[in-house]
Amino acid sequence: MRGKLVVGNWKMNGALATNAALLEAIAAGWSESTEPPGRAIAVCVPYPYLVQAQAALSLTRVAWGAQDVSEHAAGAYTGEVSAGMLLEFGCRYVIVGHSERRQFFCDADETVAAKAKAALAAGLVPIACVGETATERDAGTTETVVLRQLGAVLDAVGRDAARMVVAYEPVWAIGTGRTATPEQAQAVHATLRTRLAQAGAGDIALLYGGSVKADNAQALFAMRDIDGGLIGGASLKAREFLAIARA
Ligand code: PGA
Repeated sequence: MRGKLVVGNWKMNGALATNAALLEAIAAGWSESTEPPGRAIAVCVPYPYLVQAQAALSLTRVAWGAQDVSEHAAGAYTGEVSAGMLLEFGCRYVIVGHSERRQFFCDADETVAAKAKAALAAGLVPIACVGETATERDAGTTETVVLRQLGAVLDAVGRDAARMVVAYEPVWAIGTGRTATPEQAQAVHATLRTRLAQAGAGDIALLYGGSVKADNAQALFAMRDIDGGLIGGASLKAREFLAIARA
């Protein structure tokens, strides 16, 4: 059965004091809720705050994870963090291939695929992100781009694709306040779902991300192939994030 999932991506935001309040509010709000089974939420925090997230969330229904991972298991890779290390801090999820990683840190399709593979090998759930730029959308190449990005991951992980999560995040909608319409998002999700089904992973959670807020989440999540969201800015406010998770 396809579960519903809402994941917060804190990006490079946070501080010990504000994190403590945010984590506590999210955990308190979610445990009080009477949501039906099959709904899950998680926060993906900067590496140094994993120990704090683990301490704050261990006994709650909120999962946590990281925002990137090395494709390598160990060794001379200064600055990198392995999937095994993330596991030691109780991570369940790790985002791979976020458009900011692709844009600012040159993560190529093959690198993203290798990271997804490393995460799965360690027992983590990679949240593999795909999405087109405004230029690519205007050129009519949205499908080509997202299928290329997804295909690289699927080729690398094989049958393990059934254990991952995919997020469609149009680059033009991230942090811009410009959300894809539910219909635009659904059209891409349907394409991705078809490709995933061919790989034996038609039932995995397929998230939408890009300027999701409490007031547009419901319309997006009502679409047939949208199983939840990857939330940036709005995940830094407990009340807003919880409202999205309940949408
Ligand atoms: P946003 O970011 O919700 O702030 O647009 C989404 C993301 O980058 O995952």
